Amino acid sequence: MNKIFVDGILTGRVAFVTGGGTGITRGVARALADAGANVVLVSRSLEHLEPAARAINDEHVTNQNLGEAFAVAADVRKFEEIEEAILAAAVRFGKVDIVVNGAAGNFLCKAEELSPNGFGSVVDIDLKGTFNACRAAFAQLKEHRGQILNISATLHYLGTPMQLHVSAAKAGVDALTRNLAVEWGRYGIRVNGIAPGPIEDTEGMKRLVPEPVKERLRKNIPLGRFGRISDIEQAAVFLCSDAASFINGEVLVVDGGQWLSATKFI
Ligand code: NAP
Ligand code: COA
Repeated sequence: MNKIFVDGILTGRVAFVTGGGTGITRGVARALADAGANVVLVSRSLEHLEPAARAINDEHVTNQNLGEAFAVAADVRKFEEIEEAILAAAVRFGKVDIVVNGAAGNFLCKAEELSPNGFGSVVDIDLKGTFNACRAAFAQLKEHRGQILNISATLHYLGTPMQLHVSAAKAGVDALTRNLAVEWGRYGIRVNGIAPGPIEDTEGMKRLVPEPVKERLRKNIPLGRFGRISDIEQAAVFLCSDAASFINGEVLVVDGGQWLSATKFI
């Protein structure tokens, strides 16, 4: 990533990043570490987490002003596992003062073919998982006047075919962002979100945008390109930094204007 921010703007912070082993949230974790934060990467699979943590730690070896990483396997659907992961993070780095909720699941499925368990699985990962991490981190966030960054989407702003489950889950995530911003603002905890548009070279894009639709979708984006992981990284560093110290309850859309110009694609 080109250097946009001054060095060390997140030095001394500790970020707990769910979904931090892959894709967009791996990028966000690395960007937070580049800005000086120590990061704890959390998801189900150590096979995802360990290479991501190693890459961050290799950078730290060459430049000690960058943050270090630590991998913890946990399923965001299981509150006890997330509580243990928060504890492990606090033991390893002394505290947790940033929580990034990026863990998510998705697939394309017509509403009439979606099983209750399929709907429930996605809601459990995206929405309940976000609640679980926020709730488990509350004491740490309160003690350290920390902040939360929820990765949402724009799918629920309109009616997106084959995305009922995720639209419902992400609408809930945005509701959590706003409610927690109000309830926990009094503790100095800021709660914000980022709603990415289609981001190239990600699992999400692979699952959601079939090849024949891709070019038509790209042409419909006012800025004429898909998002890049670096676009989300930069927004995340900004929202987690003191530059955003009076921003609370905001969901920042990072989509090149895509949803405003969206038409039906599927
Ligand atoms: P991704 O690489 O598949 O990221 C999803 C992550 O969630 C994975 O690292 C996965 O790791 C983790 N995860 C899934 N279930 C979990 C569970 N039960 N417990 C803990 N971790 C779990 O996908 P991505 O495309 O980069 O998406 C990242 C975020 O951006 C998601 O919140 C997504 O909704 C959002 N988003 C993406 C796009 C896009 O264009 N890609 C657009 C809008 C929003 P494990 O398999 O190791 O558990
Ligand atoms: N279409 C319809 N239903 C599907 C589906 C698909 N493509 N994939 C899974 N499901 C349903 C399953 O059939 C099951 O329901 P059932 O018991 O009624 O049959 C339910 O979803 C749970 O599936 P399972 O495979 O047991 O879930 P899991 O907890 O192991 O995995 C997923 C969760 C399904 C979301 C899986 O795709 C995943 O792990 N995704 C993470 C990565 C990702 O999605 N990245 C993109 C983020 S934008």
